Amino acid sequence: MSLVFKTIQTEGIAELSYLLGDDDEAIGAIFDPRADIDVYVDMAREAGLAITHVFETHIHADLVSGARELCSRLPGAKIFASSPCTTCHMIQGVSKGYIGPDLTHFGSRTTLAAGVLKNTPDNVAKWIAHPGEIKPGANMPALLLPGPKMDALVAYLESLK
Ligand code: HEC
Repeated sequence: MSLVFKTIQTEGIAELSYLLGDDDEAIGAIFDPRADIDVYVDMAREAGLAITHVFETHIHADLVSGARELCSRLPGAKIFASSPCTTCHMIQGVSKGYIGPDLTHFGSRTTLAAGVLKNTPDNVAKWIAHPGEIKPGANMPALLLPGPKMDALVAYLESLK
């Protein structure tokens, strides 16, 4: 593996945060994010890393933490990573399943489930909830997620270009 390590200093205050990643696995973690999180989102994208964890090592006295916002921007990543999806699907840097199709570049696809549906957010949500109805015999279980979680998961899948 090769390590990615970046230090982010917040102007004016003696407050450091870090991006630590593994560029073979294409995953990374943020430590002590500051409130303005764009810098991390951009940095991770430039480094080709998917942010899988956000850690807070201490409570900041003088600034509002960005951890919650960062997770709320990328909640689909967490939902996917902590669900049974990972046993069957590969997303590079996130999971290594091999029973179903590789979803690493799912967002670039125009159709899904071997051409049965157009790749739109609605169709992806329908597919996840009822694969067997859409494609009889599909080897994927129906996974019912509460609406907001489903939306976040679908948005995440569509972001995988
Ligand atoms: C037991 C294994 C299994 C699990 C668990 C599973 N899938 Fe699947 N998935 C499959 C298989 C097999 C296919 C291919 C179905 C087909 O085309 O016949 C598939 C297809 C898909 C597709 C369409 C892919 C494409 O290339 O068109 C998406 C998107 C998808 N799954 C997302 C998910 C998500 C999200 C989860 C978790 C909520 C999940 N899957 C859980 C086995 C699984």
